[in-house]
Amino acid sequence: MADVTSGAVAVGSPVSQATYLKDYRPPDFFIDRTDLEFDLFNDKTTVNAHLTLRRNAAVDAAPDLILAGENLHLVSVAINNIIQPTDSYQVNHQQLVIASPPDQFILSIVTEIDPANNLSLEGLYLSDGMYCTQCEAQGFRRITYYLDRPDVLSVFTTKITADLGQYPVLLSNGNLDSQGLADDGRHWAKWIDPFKKPAYLFALVAGDLAMVEDSFTTVSGRQVALKIYVESKDLNKCDHAMQSLKNAMQWDEKVYGREYDLDLYMIVAVDFFNMGAMENKGLNIFNTSCVLANPLTQTDMAFQRVEAVVAHEYFHNWSGNRVTCRDWFQLSLKEGFTVFRDASFSADMNSATVKRVEDVSLLRSAQFAEDGGPMSHPIRPESYIEISNFYTLTIYEKGAEVIRMMHQFLGADKFRAGSDLYFDRHDGEAATCEDFIVAMENASGYDLGQFRRWYSQAGTPVLDAEGDWDQQRGCYTLKIQQSCPATPGQDQKLPFSMPVKVALVADSGLLAASCNSLSAQLLDGNEFLLSLTDSEQQWQFTGLSEKPVASLLRGFSAPVKLNFHYQPQDLLQLIDADNDGFIRWDASQRYALQLVQKHLTGEQMIDSAAGQQAVKALGLSLSQLLQQGLSGRGWDLSFDAALTAEIIRLPSYAYLIEQFDSVDIHAISEAIECLQISLSAQLKSVMVDCYQQLRQQLESLGEYQPLADHVALRSLKNTCLAFLLRSLDSSLLHLAETQFDLANNMTDQSSALSALVNCPLENAEAAAQQRVDRFYQQWSSESLVVNQWLTVQAASDKPGALGRVRALMDHEAYDNTNPNKVRALIAGFCMRNITQFHAQDGSGYELLSSEVIRLNTLNPQLASRLLSPLTQWQRFKTPQSELMQASLQRIADTENLSADVFEVVTKSLVAS
Ligand code: TRP
Ligand code: ZN
Repeated sequence: MADVTSGAVAVGSPVSQATYLKDYRPPDFFIDRTDLEFDLFNDKTTVNAHLTLRRNAAVDAAPDLILAGENLHLVSVAINNIIQPTDSYQVNHQQLVIASPPDQFILSIVTEIDPANNLSLEGLYLSDGMYCTQCEAQGFRRITYYLDRPDVLSVFTTKITADLGQYPVLLSNGNLDSQGLADDGRHWAKWIDPFKKPAYLFALVAGDLAMVEDSFTTVSGRQVALKIYVESKDLNKCDHAMQSLKNAMQWDEKVYGREYDLDLYMIVAVDFFNMGAMENKGLNIFNTSCVLANPLTQTDMAFQRVEAVVAHEYFHNWSGNRVTCRDWFQLSLKEGFTVFRDASFSADMNSATVKRVEDVSLLRSAQFAEDGGPMSHPIRPESYIEISNFYTLTIYEKGAEVIRMMHQFLGADKFRAGSDLYFDRHDGEAATCEDFIVAMENASGYDLGQFRRWYSQAGTPVLDAEGDWDQQRGCYTLKIQQSCPATPGQDQKLPFSMPVKVALVADSGLLAASCNSLSAQLLDGNEFLLSLTDSEQQWQFTGLSEKPVASLLRGFSAPVKLNFHYQPQDLLQLIDADNDGFIRWDASQRYALQLVQKHLTGEQMIDSAAGQQAVKALGLSLSQLLQQGLSGRGWDLSFDAALTAEIIRLPSYAYLIEQFDSVDIHAISEAIECLQISLSAQLKSVMVDCYQQLRQQLESLGEYQPLADHVALRSLKNTCLAFLLRSLDSSLLHLAETQFDLANNMTDQSSALSALVNCPLENAEAAAQQRVDRFYQQWSSESLVVNQWLTVQAASDKPGALGRVRALMDHEAYDNTNPNKVRALIAGFCMRNITQFHAQDGSGYELLSSEVIRLNTLNPQLASRLLSPLTQWQRFKTPQSELMQASLQRIADTENLSADVFEVVTKSLVAS
């Protein structure tokens, strides 16, 4: 009986059930061909799917064929062209079951869908009048009934018919086969993708789009057409994405020996998108925020994000598409590896050190929080309720760190041999994380037996390190203990195998030493790679000429928390004398953290002599650092200006919160403010000098360019500006006003706006408000710039933020169904305005939970992601923790919870 609920179908089943890795079974049927026909009309779309099915002889298959489907209206089912009576199949809100079909047959299914009312942005939907799709992970089942799982690979053909006037451009995966006119002012196009792929890589686009075209000649001499499709008003924002794409194609040939396979590579920019971008075969679909880049409208940060995301999606063509995932538990197989690949690419294109600092900074704040919270999971999870909830920092960023550790253990050459073997062995297949590890082992001869625990154990390992100096023998002994806290479902952990890179540092730089342990390898330049495998290990470094400071976990060689009792002067020495940029930055963060910790236990930074002394010492160090870069004619480029900016920046709230077991957010905020005020007073004059010199130097470089060196100079200049505007010196206000008024690029304009909006001086308020208004008038037609405008205001920690956010929710520029807008304003407030989000009265939590409840049925993926700050409730002191818990409970009590939100709230509340 064709009992199909149509229209507003309830999202999620009433009882959300978990799926387990241990239950994995190969598919009962294969789909050799998938021939699709889409008839697009504004009020409904008809999908005609012809599936060439074949029973999987290798498994003891169930007799019935069970296809997944959601929010579909089933019209008809035919087997080998014969329409089936409705009693020969069963259909409910998530499945179509065909009883005992033949071993080989063609199944034709006609369904109707309603893209215009699809706000979930999964399946086929309308974004600003343009049809587009998002099928990863399980969106294809919202298009037609299918074996919607990544281990079913099929050759797809797609015929699209639509109105010629409204939708002149019709795109799908692969190559254009043919096109023509149809009746009633309609036209059609047929696309063929010769490469077998799972349904999650399917894509379709129909719209009135403009296009920028270029080409790339591959190593073997094939010409590939590169096309970027955007709205015509955005044609002037495509150059950077195009250049990034060409750079990525070349880089993948050089570094991984991977060549592109189709004759065409397309990118389409859409404004309504749940994530950054999607690697659909030959037809990537991108959030506009990850493609469009123009100096006037996008910041340096946005330029770098575009470069990274374009490369990420391109790299997926091999790590994801040619070799895909067997099941969604293997998600990190493609995501961790691809993030590792895009990070290496970005490091090669820009400042490698700063890229590392940025990545580590994200990992240590947000990923560590996730790994220590109720949603903690290994990079290869064992179960999920809703797979969309597992597109996490753990899968992506920690997953990339795990690949990076393999790279360190094996070395670049053997790692490359391993990746070659992996791609060759599994090309055209759906693989597992285990397949990847085995390929690495086979190609290198390296035993990754114990290393595999990174795939199965969740939680952030903790290293407790101690050093002992024997002056007489010139010997430094390093002892490291490792442990890992319990995580949901995993009480006991076994020791991990990890690379710990160390060096011994003195005033003169890195000291020469020897170490005769089998688990220590001397690298070039007096660095050692230690292999930590036991719960406790020690190493002796001999032949040292003077007492060293230990430089541990260089380059952040493993994703762990490192405890080591550094004396303040040791940290200053590392900032000054180490040659590892990550360590220098980390040392400044640790120093600031120590100040905050001492402030909280009574050694106040302003009121106590010892506290003042300690701040002064840091200020002196930073001041020297800035002075070294200042030279007669401008900033000396041998002093990485971007790294300097990172070193002088104070630690983020997200990082600080991670360092306390029980967080008193308002006490931390007070400490950070004291530090900010004291440091900016002390550094004022050197920062004004730096600011002026950098400004002049940039001016002399001429027109804006997103080149690494220029980006670095702007970064340091604007970091100085932010500092200066917090120094309570009203004579400095004009610096930001002038910069805003004269800016010829968005990096400078928005930095100045942000500095003004966050300036604590009373007489800054009018100047700030005036420019907030002018900024909107200038950019109201640029959607992405308006998003920045929303975020700058939402993130301002001046009193009254909640009221400002509520007012902006009613602003004409705001659209509460557009994820970019919701993220800019709501997530901007909840994640970048920590003190006001955690307001004593719980009003911040109230706002967030209301938005989550509103979005729950409209866009479950967005609702669930937005919710994440509340999942950290147990880390906070009362009353914060109770108020956060109550907000979660309020969400949990809501009717019709989506599986997405249900999973996150219930797991967060259970773990109490
Ligand atoms: N595979 C995409 C990427 O990493 C991720 C992605 C894009 C996604 N859109 C999504 C995942 C929607 C889940 C839902 O590049
Ligand atoms: Zn990806």
